[in-house]
Amino acid sequence: MYNEINLEKIEINSDPPAKEPDRQYYFIAKCREWVREFERENGRCPTACVQTFGCQMNARDSEKLRGILGQAGLENCGKEEADFVLYNTCTVRDHANQKVYGRLGYLQTLKKKNPRMKIALCGCMMQEPTVVERIQKSYPFVDLIFGTHNIYKLAELLYCCLTERGMVVDVWDSADAVVEDLPAERKYSFKSGVNIMYGCNNFCSYCIVPYVRGRERSREPGEILAEIRRLAADGVKEVMLLGQNVNSYGKNLSEPVSFAELLRQVDCIDGIERIRFMTSHPKDLSSELILAMKECKKVCRHLHLPLQSGSSRILERMNRRYTKEQYLELVNRIRQAIPDISLTTDIIVGFPGETEADFEETLDVVRRVRYDSAFTFIYSKRTKTPAASMGDQVDPVVVKERFERLLREVQQISSQVCMRDAHTIQEVLVECENDHQEGYVSGRLSNNLLVHFPGDPSLVGKLVSVELTEPKGFYYIGRMVDRTEVENEWIITDDGAVCGDKEAI
Ligand code: 5AD
Ligand code: SF4
Repeated sequence: MYNEINLEKIEINSDPPAKEPDRQYYFIAKCREWVREFERENGRCPTACVQTFGCQMNARDSEKLRGILGQAGLENCGKEEADFVLYNTCTVRDHANQKVYGRLGYLQTLKKKNPRMKIALCGCMMQEPTVVERIQKSYPFVDLIFGTHNIYKLAELLYCCLTERGMVVDVWDSADAVVEDLPAERKYSFKSGVNIMYGCNNFCSYCIVPYVRGRERSREPGEILAEIRRLAADGVKEVMLLGQNVNSYGKNLSEPVSFAELLRQVDCIDGIERIRFMTSHPKDLSSELILAMKECKKVCRHLHLPLQSGSSRILERMNRRYTKEQYLELVNRIRQAIPDISLTTDIIVGFPGETEADFEETLDVVRRVRYDSAFTFIYSKRTKTPAASMGDQVDPVVVKERFERLLREVQQISSQVCMRDAHTIQEVLVECENDHQEGYVSGRLSNNLLVHFPGDPSLVGKLVSVELTEPKGFYYIGRMVDRTEVENEWIITDDGAVCGDKEAI
């Protein structure tokens, strides 16, 4: 296991081992030697900065990248004025790519001031050959490019980039093995993402993810549970189980395990108090999982269930493999089993061939389900995907108008839904001091909504009881309540009176 490895004992003058992860520890030790040399020459430690673009998977990958850099002896400074800057990129929509190209211009100006600076790019965008070609041609000051399948190799690539001239490019088409036991530097001490699987087999017709993240690979349950036990021992209270389609977890293991079974096993780990997961595909959400969510006390009352479109015709063109009716029926079953669940979703507007009638179907689902919140996206054409070659792309003016209508509807509904919990007392995991109001801290409810309330920084990382005094649409203002008040089931009502029965309010 990683924690037991003594880097100082690695023989760095012999050849690198062929086996992973030993090979990477060898290169971590080699980088340390380079760092010591840098310190002697410059009188300071070299600094590193990892910037994340995109989703929770990328955020977790960045923690691993920071962990490797930290072990290699670089000081993570969080600013782009660093000696080693790494962008962990996203390519799910074109906008994400444009952001990276824009930032590269800025990095070039920084490199002119610090010629020792190394610029590296990794992640989903680098899996696209056209992107790599463009960078090689138009951004020759970039020093290192690697993809999604070999992030575990950062130490080796870093050593190569620090000691050789020219751009190092190492992008793999696929990965068959999952390399375990490498360091990670967590952003929060009390919560952590945990990858349970990589890649996606669904090939939704608009989506580039299966092309850049490869086929579905599940981690062994034993490895996942061991990682979560280590996290719990390290003070982590909340875990987010991560995968592009967690509902199909375990199907390709030599001894298949369902996601519901995994959830029940995580629920038994002492010290873990909250379990979240992301993302669920509606077509794979089983009754067994609904039951596990209902029965596992630590599983949060929140489910992200991407709709994408409310029109069965468009869903078929999207290759989502469910209809509007099946989606609504699934929502009903979930709500019957877990009435207080918060539902959130992703919706794409302007998919090729979307008519006004199709869009109305999407609005209809939004009105029926009444999501707690929804991420809304304008369809973005992605190379290689089947949707990119569909002839009937929608006029951007029409798309924008629909997008704004959808956003208004979603926001109006979510601010009404948010009222639901006003004046109840709920558990909040405190995440940080509040940036805007001194003396306040911010945390999340089980259903993922933010709550700001008066409190001191010592509360960060703790679970506390908070009365939700003011609903603000997308968040609450609250006040902390003494545990004994809650244990006695005392509820403070609107007019400040205290009563002993939640139902009476
Ligand atoms: N255009 C717009 N949105 C997309 N998404 C994925 N691919 C595209 C695309 N080509 C959205 C989906 C998905 C979320 C992560 O990103 O809604 O659920
Ligand atoms: Fe993309 Fe569909 Fe896979 Fe999600 S399930 S990552 S939208 S292909």
